[in-house]
Amino acid sequence: MINIGILGMGTIGTGVVEVINENAERIYQRTGERLKIKRILVRDLKKKRAVNINHLLTNDPEEILRDDEIDIVVELMGGLQPACNYIKMAMENGKHVVTANKEVISKCGRDLFEVAKQKGVNLLFEASVGGGIPIIRPLKQCLAANEINEIIGIINGTTNYILTEMTENKMDFYEVLKKAQELGYAESDPSADIKGMDAARKLAILSSIAFNTRIIPEDIYTEGISKIKPVDILYADELGFKIKLLALARKHEQGIEARVSPVLLPKRHPLSSVMGVFNAIMVKGFPVGEVMFYGMGAGKEATSSAVVADIVDAVRNRSNKNITLCTCFGDEKVIPAEQTE
Ligand code: NDP
Ligand code: HSE
Repeated sequence: MINIGILGMGTIGTGVVEVINENAERIYQRTGERLKIKRILVRDLKKKRAVNINHLLTNDPEEILRDDEIDIVVELMGGLQPACNYIKMAMENGKHVVTANKEVISKCGRDLFEVAKQKGVNLLFEASVGGGIPIIRPLKQCLAANEINEIIGIINGTTNYILTEMTENKMDFYEVLKKAQELGYAESDPSADIKGMDAARKLAILSSIAFNTRIIPEDIYTEGISKIKPVDILYADELGFKIKLLALARKHEQGIEARVSPVLLPKRHPLSSVMGVFNAIMVKGFPVGEVMFYGMGAGKEATSSAVVADIVDAVRNRSNKNITLCTCFGDEKVIPAEQTE
């Protein structure tokens, strides 16, 4: 029996509990272990929950982080703090950690991986980029033989959903944003989506792994979609373009170019056909050439698929501790944005 403590019971926490319950037999067949959710941390004990877990709720993090019987802590609270401290404390207490938190991994990843290494525990974060799309593991493992030269992608579901609805259904920006929040796609502070910070955090994680470097979100030139007006979309369409919020990281001799900004993409470009909450990431490398990853970039179902896959991996690797540790985050230079216009 593997005991799990979950920090956070919002959109993704709910999805994770549902998948663990609904796929219990399948997970047992694949790991030889039963998963038991022992405790769940929330802020508001009185809030109505979508699943029947009220008997597991606590608002005291110590009940999870210091419980010797808990093997895996799943962080789904969001935000930098206290999430980062809780992850660190959990690992210091010998627990494996799974997180979907791109802010924590992009800003404190290096320190946290050090703690994971010292304590011999797994720190897994597949859901932090691209929702349900497998991208962290493919970059770290399947493409490990390559020299990666470029990553280009649509890696924020909320903004792609907004741009798609504004284009296809002529919907108002704030009306679609509200819908994205209701559907559970947006961050708790949606300005992180709209201003491009969420995409920059994800690009920082991807490029740190791909280029064996350490890129933090602040290194990345970041511009969001808040200035895009319906008339821009209309003109772009007439001229044969789509407006997309694109994340790009490219290797140059002098260092890494990394940016997130709205761009005009020719309609025939493969990323132009990525609609709604879908994400796509194109990776170019040698010897592989070009590969593309595509799928639901946000939302309860897709994201909980990635989180539970990490839990399964942590169960499988719990005594083979080095397999999934991230060995990335070196010291490559980032080129200032004005030098790469
Ligand atoms: P929600 O805002 O829906 O849920 C957050 C949960 O964490 C809530 O249950 C909240 O408690 C709890 N919480 C927040 N702060 C604290 C605190 N200080 N102490 C105790 N509990 C706290 O977030 P999501 O489920 O949407 O996102 C969770 C994480 O997953 C984030 O890191 C997000 O970036 C990431 N992610 C989200 C995706 C999505 O599509 N939504 C996709 C990929 C990643 P309460 O319920 O009591 O308020
Ligand atoms: N707010 C994020 C998005 C969630 O819309 O892409 C997935 O990381």
